[in-house]
Amino acid sequence: MRFISIKEALEKKSGKVSLRGWVHRERGSSKFKFVVLRDSTNIIQCIIKKDKVGEELFDIADKLQVETSLELHGTLKEDERAPTGYEVEVNQFEVIGESDKFPIGADQSREFLDDNRHLWLRSRKMTAIMKIRSTFVQAREEFFKSEKFIRFDAPILQPTQSEGGSTVFEVKYYKAKSYLAQTWQLYGEAGVFALEKIYNFGPTFRAEKSKTTRHLSEFWMAEMEAAWFDLKDVSEFAKKELKYCIQQVIKERSEDLILLGQDPKKLLAMTKKEWPTIKYREVLDIIKKKDNISVKFGKDLRTEEEKAIMQHYDTPLIVTHYPVEAMGFYKPRDSEVSDEALCFDMLAPGTGVEIVGGSQRSLDVKDMEDRLKADGEDPKDYEWYFDSRKYGSVPHSGYGVGTERVIAWICGLDNIKDAIPFPRTMGRYTP
Ligand code: 4AD
Ligand code: MG
Repeated sequence: MRFISIKEALEKKSGKVSLRGWVHRERGSSKFKFVVLRDSTNIIQCIIKKDKVGEELFDIADKLQVETSLELHGTLKEDERAPTGYEVEVNQFEVIGESDKFPIGADQSREFLDDNRHLWLRSRKMTAIMKIRSTFVQAREEFFKSEKFIRFDAPILQPTQSEGGSTVFEVKYYKAKSYLAQTWQLYGEAGVFALEKIYNFGPTFRAEKSKTTRHLSEFWMAEMEAAWFDLKDVSEFAKKELKYCIQQVIKERSEDLILLGQDPKKLLAMTKKEWPTIKYREVLDIIKKKDNISVKFGKDLRTEEEKAIMQHYDTPLIVTHYPVEAMGFYKPRDSEVSDEALCFDMLAPGTGVEIVGGSQRSLDVKDMEDRLKADGEDPKDYEWYFDSRKYGSVPHSGYGVGTERVIAWICGLDNIKDAIPFPRTMGRYTP
C-alpha cells in the first residue's frame, strides 16, 4: 500500500486510502471514535467503528490521545459535517508513537505557548505561517535569479558594529572580541565591485533593548546590493521584489492566508497598485496637517508617527530623504540638500511598521570617518571597507528586507515572534 498525504486524499475524494499523521482532535462514544488526523498538508476526519474494526482494535482507538502518531487505512467519502468536507471510515490502523497528555489545549497564554514553542509549532496557525515564510523565501530566490543576481554570503562574526554600537552582540573570539552581524551590507558592498549585482539571506542580530511586537534579537534579513544603482533604482527594485514575492505567496498559499484570517484577493489587489514614494519632509507636512502631529526635522520617525502616516495609505509607502543626522554613517548626503540622506524606508500599510531599509552608499570617505568618530568608533577599524572607495569606486545602493516583519504584515500577526519558528527576544532565548 502507498501512503498519500491528506491533501492528496482530499483531492481524490473517494475510494481506498492509506494515511499517516498525528491525532489532532479526538472524541468518542461506546461505539464510535472520531479522530481528526493531521499531517503537514491538512486535516481530515476519520471514524473508527467498533463493529467494523473489532473489540480489540476499538479498545486501542478508545484510548488514543491528541498527538499520537498513526498509520491508517480506510475508505474515503464526502461528509459535509466533517471539518474539511471528507471522512475516512477506518478499517485498519496502527499506533506508531503513543503520546503523553499533550500540554497545549485551547486558550493558553502567550508565555505558555512560547515556553512550549517546540510543541506549539504543530498548531495549524504556526504551520500555515511557516509555509508562507518558506514560499516567500523561495520566491525571493527565484526573483533574484531571474534578475541575474548572484548569491553572496558574508561572515556572521564580524570585527566591528555596522548599525550602531548600542544594539551589537559581543562574542568572545578566541582571545579577542567579535560581534554578531547586524547586517550583511558592508561585506555586500565589497562584493559588488566583483559581482555587481548580489543578494543574500541570513541571520542578523540586534541586541534590541526594547520589548515590542516588532523587534527580534535574531531575525533573517534579506539583503541586496547593486553597483550602478542609485536611490531611485534601488527603491523601485524593492517594490518589484516585494510585489513578486507576495504574489507568489498568494498563488501558492491562499488557503494558509485564509486560515490566518487574511484576504488573498485584497492582498493581490494591493500588489497591483502603484506604491507611492514621498520624502521625509512631506511626511512631516502630512502628519502635521492631517493628524496634528509636529515633528522637528532631525529625528528618525517614531512608531506613532509611522502609524499616523500609514493611516493615509492602503499600500506600502516608500519614504526617502531622512535627516542625515539620524542615519547610519554610510548613507550619503543629498548633494542639493545637505541635511537629507539618500536613503529610504518602506512602511507597511495599517501598522506603519518599517519593513525595508536601504540607501545609496556614501562614497565620501572623509564624511564617513567623521560620522563614525561622532559615534565613538575608530575609523581605522573600517579601513578595509574604505578600500572599496579607493580602487575604482562606483555608485552603488542596496537594502535589507526584514523577513519576519513582512511575514507578520502579510499574515496579519499581532506579534513578530510568530513569524519565525523559534523567536529570540530580549526576554527569551529558549527553547
Ligand atoms: O533598517 P535596517 O537597520 O537596515 C540595515 O541594516 C541596512 N544595512 C540594510 C541594507 O541596506 N542592506 O534593517 C533593515 C530591515 C528593517 O527595515 C526591518 O525590516 C528589519 O531589517 N529589522 C528588524 N526586524 C526585526 N527585528 C529587528 N530588531 C529589526 N531590525 C531591523
Ligand atoms: Mg531602518
